[in-house]
Amino acid sequence: MEKPRILAELKNQTRPQHDSVEGNLFGKAMMAGTMSLEQYKEFLQKFYGFHLALEQALSSFDWASLGIDFDERRKIAFLEQDLRALGLSDADIALLPQADDLPPMQSIEEAVGVMYVMEGSTLGGQIQARQVQKMFGFGAENGAAYFSSYGANVGVMWKAYSEAIVRAASDNAAKETTIIASAKATFTALERWLMLDVAVAEEV
Ligand code: HEM
Repeated sequence: MEKPRILAELKNQTRPQHDSVEGNLFGKAMMAGTMSLEQYKEFLQKFYGFHLALEQALSSFDWASLGIDFDERRKIAFLEQDLRALGLSDADIALLPQADDLPPMQSIEEAVGVMYVMEGSTLGGQIQARQVQKMFGFGAENGAAYFSSYGANVGVMWKAYSEAIVRAASDNAAKETTIIASAKATFTALERWLMLDVAVAEEV
């Protein structure tokens, strides 16, 4: 069956940004297997600050109306588990900076676009989990819970979310445009947030 237009467009229109995240310091070092443990820890802290802010904003939408159980898609507990495995205390975690430059989330369509980026990241997560295992010997239980995310259910969870996107877009051009713009804005916000990290790391 042909891929619904909204799914094809989301993928095509965010590809340059996806490839930039994948090719920047984070993805590059991850894929090359040259990431240091310190860098891994830093990026997990960054993802924590990003997800925490987004999850708080996203949780107020009516996901059930799209057939989505928002709570089962939260990633914060995974990130906390990894950060603890890497030696951070709960007090350290509570002090981590949260992203404040967020994409707009005024409508369910915008929320769906943001969530597309968060959910899509679980696909690459499977590859990243393998890299983390290779580099540091961490598995889902001890330091790689975030990248392992839904484990064997990644495909099923992605398919269900893809269906929710199609439902939200409901073949309406204006809604499709909003969802795509929101996904792009989310990648932009993530890039800025990750770059901030790199700049800080380089100053030290
Ligand atoms: C080393 C870094 C990364 C690698 C190697 C990677 C790899 C991948 C792969 C292999 C896919 C599946 C493509 C397909 O099935 O056609 C994918 C999809 C996706 N990834 Fe990544 N990824 C990385 C980082 C990220 C990050 C950090 C995000 C966002 C937070 C992200 C968001 C997405 C999204 C939204 C999709 C879905 C694309 C679609 O619409 O099908 N990825 N990625």
